[in-house]
Amino acid sequence: MTDNLTHEPVLVEETAALLVTDRRGTYVDATVGFGGHAEKIISMLEPAGRLIGIDWDPELIAIAGTKLSMFSPQIKLLEGNFANLDEILARENIDSISGILMDLGVSSLHFDKPSRGFSFRLEGPLDMRINPSNPLTAFTIINKWPYEQIEHLIRICGEKFSARIAKKIVETRKTKQIETTAELRKLIENCISRRNEKIHPATKTFLAFRAAVNHEFENLAKALEKSAKFLKKGSRLAVISFHSIEDRIVKETFKLMKKVGGWKLVTPKPVKPSEKEIIQNHRARSAKLRVIEKE
Ligand SMILES: C[S@@+](CC[C@H](N)C(=O)[O-])C[C@H]1O[C@@H](n2cnc3c(N)ncnc32)[C@H](O)[C@@H]1O
Repeated sequence: MTDNLTHEPVLVEETAALLVTDRRGTYVDATVGFGGHAEKIISMLEPAGRLIGIDWDPELIAIAGTKLSMFSPQIKLLEGNFANLDEILARENIDSISGILMDLGVSSLHFDKPSRGFSFRLEGPLDMRINPSNPLTAFTIINKWPYEQIEHLIRICGEKFSARIAKKIVETRKTKQIETTAELRKLIENCISRRNEKIHPATKTFLAFRAAVNHEFENLAKALEKSAKFLKKGSRLAVISFHSIEDRIVKETFKLMKKVGGWKLVTPKPVKPSEKEIIQNHRARSAKLRVIEKE
């Protein structure tokens, strides 16, 4: 059941104010989720303006469809991976847009629904797929991938005990497959202790597996490149990231776009949530919004 699940969107006012430059334009929310940003953007548009909402998760497209039904026909929702933005927009006969938003990562639904297998706080299968038709699951990575690949992916997500965790995974699976999020959490807790740190010891390892299952960094790089081709003069690309690897990809891509020419940084420094927003929504604490404009 998803009835009582929701997602508190971050930096909504700031994002919409920086994204919407033409109230009669066509916008893309490439990560529509529960529709929090989409609702704000569409409410700023004149009747001629429209919004294409994309999400890779069919469950979220269904939820957004119900939530945003009052904005029909100004809004159209499509299931798809933003890495395929060119194909998605071509199918809609759209060759230029006034702005695009990517609010990265996963939604609260993914963490709050144990069956999706994203959370180390709730027991569930080691799944972690944003789109359930994706053949790769966290179970496959954890139980089948070689030590070197597991260690590498945990290390690049910033876990300094990557070798210890990868070794423990490979040792454990020799006698029994690792089946659930709780088993993986306990395994990590047993090999590292971080009493003085603010984050749970399993945080970075879970992030690493989630990113690998969903090809998050590759998809982001492709989506940034493809969106640039659809933006016309004065149009903007806005990206909200939640961890340093994503933010570095966005920051470096924007830097390169500016260097190549034809783009200006609207946010030379990322916009961050206010203290008030962080108190109301703990998830906002790591959010960074970057915006670039086509000249
Ligand atoms: C942080 S949430 C977005 C929340 C949304 N802005 C709202 O107001 O509810 C990120 C969303 O991106 C979606 N997503 C992740 N990777 C994606 C991809 N490659 N293509 C499209 N959507 C993706 C997730 O399913 C999730 O719903």
